Parts: sequence; structure tokens; C-alpha cells
Amino acid sequence: MSKIEEALKKANILRESYGNTGNVKAHIPSDGEIIKTDNQYLVTLTQPGSPVAEEYRRLKSMLIRETKANFLNTVMITSAVEAEGKSLTAVNLALTLSQEIDHTILLVDADLRKPTLHEYLGISCKYGLSDYLTRDIDLSEILVKTGIGNLLIIPAGHTVENPVELLSSVRMKTLIHELKHRYMDRYVIIDTPPILPFADAISLGSLVDGVLFIVKEGRIQKKSLENAVHLIKDLKILGVVFNYAHAENLEGHYSRYYYYNYKKKEKK
Ligand SMILES: Nc1ncnc2c1ncn2[C@@H]1O[C@H](COP(=O)(O)OP(=O)(O)O)[C@@H](O)[C@H]1O
Ligand SMILES: [Mg+2]
Repeated sequence: MSKIEEALKKANILRESYGNTGNVKAHIPSDGEIIKTDNQYLVTLTQPGSPVAEEYRRLKSMLIRETKANFLNTVMITSAVEAEGKSLTAVNLALTLSQEIDHTILLVDADLRKPTLHEYLGISCKYGLSDYLTRDIDLSEILVKTGIGNLLIIPAGHTVENPVELLSSVRMKTLIHELKHRYMDRYVIIDTPPILPFADAISLGSLVDGVLFIVKEGRIQKKSLENAVHLIKDLKILGVVFNYAHAENLEGHYSRYYYYNYKKKEKK
């Protein structure tokens, strides 16, 4: 059995579509800058008691379980193609980690092609990762406090022509090393572009401790999935997240979550 087949079989995470999560406003009190959000996709903030938020807590527990022995704290999130839910998983996972455990969490937007983390979190910053990699600026200039728990973010920064080159540069390697070792209790969650069209995530993959692979159910062809899996076969796959999972693929207690969403949708 191939590594990915094993990972798929382990199927650490199953989670259903967000469905209609409503527009609950969140206001997280803190002494830093405060993010107020009505972004319905940030379910871990807006609907912490919802089944979807619960799924993120399961993902968090799985991640901690898989990584704690050797503290594999740099985790890259990727998928075969775009719009499979990489960035939303990265944000919600980081939010969940920062809310519930005593760790510092750093969320890095390494999708220099289509960065979205700053939008999802509603933050703005003068510089980001691409600037750090191309100019002589200090790390402190790209670290943005979110005001949520111990969550820091490094946004993508300005658009660049050569993302692969930058992400495979010595400066990037040194940066990841520094991020990993400066605080031993810190999780670094790195969002990336999809791996079938671009080489970015593959080159980053060798710098990180492990990979969370997102699969949007029903979207990707088996052949493409196999190709994608082949590309990451030498990386450490920590788990697979099935996004937009359907009830028929879920077992036991998951199905009730489906009905929950289904009913909510019906009301619309
Ligand atoms: N589980 C989900 N349920 C419903 N919509 C989702 C879900 N995951 C992602 N989406 C939708 O897909 C879009 C793309 O998600 P995103 O995480 O930005 O994808 P990626 O980073 O893989 O390109 C989101 O803006 C959202 O509209
Ligand atoms: Mg994305």
C-alpha cells in the first residue's frame, strides 16, 4: 500500500460542508489588536459550538497527537488543485490551536500566487513573506499580531514573479529553521498553492516537518489525485482532510452533523 493510501485509509479527518453557518459576529477581547469578524467561514470563531468547529477541534487533536512525540511543529497545508479548502482549513486550524492550547501559533501565507489569509482574517500589513524574501527587512516587520490568543500571522506580501525560486531559496530555508527553533512550543501552519499546477508547495515540503493534505470530495478526478499523491510521496503526510465531505462517506456520529446542516439548508 502506498503512503498516501495508508494516509487515506487512516482518514484522520472527515468533515462536512459548512453549509449555512449564518453571520454571527465574533468579538474576541484581548489586549492586542482585535479582529472582529462576521466571516461565516471562520466557524471556529463565529460558531465555536457548531459541529464544524468540533471537527476542527478533532483535527487539532489529531495533529497534536501525530506531532507531539518529536514536536514536528512546522506543518504545511496543501492539496492537488485550487479551491479545495486549503486556506480555510489553515485559518480555522490555527484559530483552534490558538484558542485551546498553550502554544504560540504562527500562520504563514506561502501562497504567493493567490494569497487569502489576510483577507479571511481581515488584516493588513505593509510587508509580508515575499518582501522578507526579496528585501533586507527584519522578521519583526512581517509578523502581525491578530489579537486572538497567541496567534501571529505572516501575510504573503507583495506580488512577485518568481514564487518557486523564493520559496526554495536559502533565505526561506533559514526562515523556516528560525521559526521552528526560536520558540519550541510554537506551531507553524503554512498555507500553500496547489501542487498539480505549481511547484511551490513541493519545494517547501522538504523544509517542513509534515503535510496536511486537503481533498475536496467529489471535485478531483482519481487520476489527478494519484498524480498529486505521487508528487508528495516522499514527504511526511500527517493526515488527510476531506473537505465538503458527504454524509454517505461518513460513518457513525458524523451523519448527524450532516442532518444538522441539511435541515438548516432546507430552511433557507
Ligand atoms: N467545507 C466547505 N464548505 C463550504 N464552502 C467551502 C468549504 N471549504 C471551502 N469552501 C469555499 O471554497 C472557497 C475556497 O476555499 P479556500 O480555503 O480559499 O480554498 P484554497 O485555499 O484551497 O484555494 C471558499 O471561499 C469557500 O467559499
Ligand atoms: Mg488558498
